[in-house]
Amino acid sequence: MSATIITKAGPTPPHADTIREAGPGELDALAAIENQCFSMDRISRSGLRRFLTRSRQNPWGARFLAVEHGACICGYVLLLLRRNSLIARIYSIAVIPEHRRMGMARTLLAGAESVAVESGRNRIRLEVREDNAAAIRLYSSVGYGSFDRIEQYYEDRTAAIRMEKPL
Ligand SMILES: CC(C)(COP(=O)(O)OP(=O)(O)OC[C@H]1O[C@@H](n2cnc3c(N)ncnc32)[C@H](O)[C@@H]1OP(=O)(O)O)[C@@H](O)C(=O)NCCC(=O)NCCS
Repeated sequence: MSATIITKAGPTPPHADTIREAGPGELDALAAIENQCFSMDRISRSGLRRFLTRSRQNPWGARFLAVEHGACICGYVLLLLRRNSLIARIYSIAVIPEHRRMGMARTLLAGAESVAVESGRNRIRLEVREDNAAAIRLYSSVGYGSFDRIEQYYEDRTAAIRMEKPL
């Protein structure tokens, strides 16, 4: 399968953020992002490899999108698309600290939502730690609303807020 390139509309200036499908050769970069961005509940290296392979072999099962700025892979979003479900799921999203507050997560979410719509999904869901104010604000700012809470969801027993957006 050829890589999907999703760029912002209009001519592309040098170093514009580009979203594209991550490839197996980017396992190290993605593992480095994971290590920098999460102190627990990390996706293991073997987990990342499995998702990357799945994304390539079965694009309707998982999609791994990376955001690039110049030569830097600055973040990723991992989208899960279950067979026979109209609901897509954001499994994880992360942007490295040096590139935060530049709109990259919003761009990644927009890319994931486009892929979900293309694949016939009409809603998108995610879980977020209830103490992750930055992420909750991000999701709320682009139309996600909370609909449920799961006690002791994370490794350290913090609860998850479940959020959803109609597509
Ligand atoms: C959450 C995360 C992905 C946001 O990435 P980002 O690229 O900095 O986000 P954006 O620049 O697109 O921010 C969009 C909006 O989100 C909100 N936001 C993002 N970071 C925020 C922060 N630290 N504090 C408050 N609001 C924040 C703001 O509303 C922001 O809009 P604004 O900059 O116009 O005010 C990033 O902080 C991260 O990787 N954190 C660690 C991993 C993580 O928590 N992932 C989410 C798991 S559910």
